[in-house]
Amino acid sequence: KSIVVLISGSGSNLQAIIDACSSGFIPAKVSAVISNKANAYGLVRANDAGISTQVLSHKTYSSRDKYDAALMDAIDQHKPDLVVLAGFMRILTPAFVQHFTGRLLNIHPSLLPKYQGLDTHQRAITAGDSEHGCSVHFVTEQLDGGPVILQAKVPVFSDDDALSLAERVHEQEHRTYPLVVRWFCQNRLQQQADQAWLDGNVL
Ligand code: GRF
Repeated sequence: KSIVVLISGSGSNLQAIIDACSSGFIPAKVSAVISNKANAYGLVRANDAGISTQVLSHKTYSSRDKYDAALMDAIDQHKPDLVVLAGFMRILTPAFVQHFTGRLLNIHPSLLPKYQGLDTHQRAITAGDSEHGCSVHFVTEQLDGGPVILQAKVPVFSDDDALSLAERVHEQEHRTYPLVVRWFCQNRLQQQADQAWLDGNVL
């Protein structure tokens, strides 16, 4: 199977997926990494792993529709079975989401449906939550609203700040995302409308 990963930043989740492909845990290869930011460190990680990279800057497009159409074409060149959003910090158009429905995954740093959008770690601390975490979900037109596949929880400690909490969540992201990608590549995971299914059971 073939995976295209979209990033905007550090790419630590990308790294976890690359490593899981090389070890055979994920029965697939990352065919390409596409970033909307030229300075994303994830591009270095991809290069180091011998994966082809492309920068597609949204700044050179006059509208979101045009950018997403170009992004769609760039992805389609690689004929991926799966498109993985790994810290890709852009809202996607309905046309884009529809085009990849059922093969588009995202990871979000909160226990969805809590804290959709940005700044999730600080929001969990401010709310006084005793637990926080991450969610891997299929992407639908609803921002951070698609069916959840897998979550991991972490405790929130009284002396946490957003950074220390983010680090704890990141460790779990690096476990959960490769596992979900593995399931998908093993043909065990499906999206049907607003539900995610694993091994024939609704999640
Ligand atoms: C992660 O926290 C992920 O949940 C969010 O963006 C961050 C990406 O981190 N969607 P990295 O670039 O994979 O290190």
